[in-house]
Amino acid sequence: MKTVFENQIQLPTHVPVLLEEVLTALGPERGGWFVDGTLGLGGHTEALLRSSPAVRVLAIDRDQEAAAQALERIAPFRDRVRYVHADYRQLPQILQEQGISSVAGILADLGISSWQLGKPDRGFSFQTAGPLDMRMDPSQGPTAADLVNSLAAEDLANVIFDYGEERASRRIARRIVDARTKQPIETTDQLADLIRKAVPGFGKQRIDPATRTFQALRIAVNRELDDLDLFVSQAIEYLEPAGRLAIITFHSLEDRLIKHAMRQAAGIVETTESRYLPPSLQHQIKPRVTLVTRKPIIATEAEIDRNPRARSAKLRVCEKI
Ligand SMILES: C[S@@+](CC[C@H](N)C(=O)[O-])C[C@H]1O[C@@H](n2cnc3c(N)ncnc32)[C@H](O)[C@@H]1O
Repeated sequence: MKTVFENQIQLPTHVPVLLEEVLTALGPERGGWFVDGTLGLGGHTEALLRSSPAVRVLAIDRDQEAAAQALERIAPFRDRVRYVHADYRQLPQILQEQGISSVAGILADLGISSWQLGKPDRGFSFQTAGPLDMRMDPSQGPTAADLVNSLAAEDLANVIFDYGEERASRRIARRIVDARTKQPIETTDQLADLIRKAVPGFGKQRIDPATRTFQALRIAVNRELDDLDLFVSQAIEYLEPAGRLAIITFHSLEDRLIKHAMRQAAGIVETTESRYLPPSLQHQIKPRVTLVTRKPIIATEAEIDRNPRARSAKLRVCEKI
């Protein structure tokens, strides 16, 4: 993990979602340290920094190329920002290394940015031809091509089903495994073609049949759902009293995990779980937060018109007791 400031490479093309709602949720006017766990192109961080000269931001992102642009964008506030190239799930270690013991607010805006999606060489999009990569941090771990060319058919089908909620997962996995015996699958368009051939009725569907499989592979490559509940719990640990945690998700799998983790921290145990706790333990579930949002905040029609990506965004917020 190193702290870097790099030069601008390209113009940013990512519009931050639910910006006003995030600012209202985090209340940066009070000043202090805020963590942006997903700096991206810096839209939310910039707004936090602008909202008060007393705000300092610890910005984290595992994509250094994106962060380099964000840092250029927020250069005027440089003395109030620290950037760490890391996974936000390493928060306790990062805060320790930075000598920060508690923070006023923490934001995580999950997934990838429009800028990452729009860069063919990163391999996230089935709409443009590029290497089948999909790593948010290109210096780490296997690529989507590695998974697609090495997983057993059953494991591949499970990934596509579990993370893409794709009913045709087995058919798609079989088609991929057949194809790769002839030639490795190395590009996004190669994979998208295979999926479209495996799913009947392509052309009649509202969304491209490759959408769900691409989502599934991206989640698997980046281990996006791993330890999200642990992150929520650890983030709460580092909040000051009345400090707030705000998390934006973009699909139901993520949202379910965040909802559950925040409810647990609020001491709201699902009935199915509390049934199994002995009565002597039930009163010991001590709430660490209150839920600021019982139902997630979603974008207004006006925002969705301006930024269609906001359509699936859900913001959940809790406050440290
Ligand atoms: C939706 S974008 C954030 C956009 C940002 N809020 C803005 O306004 O520009 C998500 C960013 O989080 C990063 N990211 C996703 N998961 C991460 C993780 N586990 N650790 C660190 N960064 C992550 C991605 O690389 C991407 O740049």
